[in-house]
Amino acid sequence: MSVSNMKFVLVLTTLIVTILGTSLNGCDSKVVQFIFGDSLSDVGNNNRMSRSLAKANLPWYGIDFGNGLPNGRFSNGRTVADFIGDEMGLPRPPPYLDPSLTEDMILENGVNYASGGGGILNETGTYFIQRFSLYKQIELFHGTQQMIRKKIGTDAAQKFFQESRYVVALGSNDFINNYLMPVYSDSWKYNDDAFIDYLTETLQGQLELLHSLGARQLMVFGLGPMGCIPLQRVLSSSGDCQDRANKLALSFNRATSQMLEKMSGKLTNASYRFADAYDVVNDVISNPYKYGFNNSDSPCCSFGSIRPALTCIPASTLCQDRSKYVFWDEYHPTDTANQIVAKELKKKFGFSRVNSGNAPSSAPAIAPAFAPSPQG
Ligand SMILES: *[C@@H]1O[C@H](CO)[C@@H](O)[C@H](O)[C@H]1NC(C)=O
Ligand SMILES: *[C@@H]1O[C@H](CO)[C@@H](O)[C@H](O)[C@H]1NC(C)=O
Ligand SMILES: *[C@@H]1O[C@H](CO)[C@@H](O)[C@H](O)[C@H]1NC(C)=O
Repeated sequence: MSVSNMKFVLVLTTLIVTILGTSLNGCDSKVVQFIFGDSLSDVGNNNRMSRSLAKANLPWYGIDFGNGLPNGRFSNGRTVADFIGDEMGLPRPPPYLDPSLTEDMILENGVNYASGGGGILNETGTYFIQRFSLYKQIELFHGTQQMIRKKIGTDAAQKFFQESRYVVALGSNDFINNYLMPVYSDSWKYNDDAFIDYLTETLQGQLELLHSLGARQLMVFGLGPMGCIPLQRVLSSSGDCQDRANKLALSFNRATSQMLEKMSGKLTNASYRFADAYDVVNDVISNPYKYGFNNSDSPCCSFGSIRPALTCIPASTLCQDRSKYVFWDEYHPTDTANQIVAKELKKKFGFSRVNSGNAPSSAPAIAPAFAPSPQG
């Protein structure tokens, strides 16, 4: 190649980079996501609530993520939402309560409002004292919108929020930490059908509210077989899954799916989808070996034979191989299980990448060098 040709190539390359750069910084800003959820999606909100009793702030939470210190995720590693977001090329949104959250960070990364113990209903999870219920999370999102409008103007803000992606992933606490617990009045005020109606009607109102606030591309996660989490098994005399809790999860999924179908016709310019992972998770739990697991009924992190252990604490012992366990603690799946669920959801829904050319945010899931020897 002659020198002048080479110069031309260089100039052209610079030109293309400049044009691309301009369009990225200009009208076509990066697509980000806003996440509403419970402990399955919390990335640090509860850890910053002084009075919350549902926190993932002690070792060994986060042991297979980044520097291995607790980061607010109720898992040893990543959440399902982390994996799906990475797959779509979406940045991982910081927790709403991150003290360094600024308008620029929100425009670049979105926000995660998920909170451990939170439910669709305000009255869910009250015994955790502090948590964001879905209504509260939407209220906080409303505040975020006002901040962004002030920063970039009403029109640009409207475009930004309409192009963003939304995840709504709550519901299990409305059963596990409400309806199925006799200390909560909902458990005796409603029967199964009436409670599911109440729950899905409330959720419908919340989804309509999000639409009125500009959410156009939204995914609702369904419930897994919550009767099979280690806590529910240990509470059953046989050690089997609790059939009643699983039936409720299936009823909720059916009702929510129908509600979304009916709704989606009425919501202008919107795509509200239901992501149901019940069958996938159920298959993983019923056939752990097929997926490379060795245990699907007890938590990897537990406190000797004392069950339920409620939470993972520094004095707990860890299973020998964390990638062989479906469950990390009494409630929450491991990084490996979440990855499999996300992969199966991808097969079912074919999430398309939204920020082309944008590498997925780094997925630091390496065990730290100072990791304690398991069992020790
Ligand atoms: C739920 O809580 C929100 C505040 O987070 C409040 O505005 C709303 O009125 C409450 N709704 C019900 C039905 O109690
Ligand atoms: C729906 O999309 C069309 C085309 O982009 C736009 O003109 C219209 O204002 C949108 N309607 C609403 C309610 O957002
Ligand atoms: C599976 O777990 C059993 C004990 O529950 C153990 O004896 C066996 O070695 C484990 N297998 C693998 C492949 O980890």
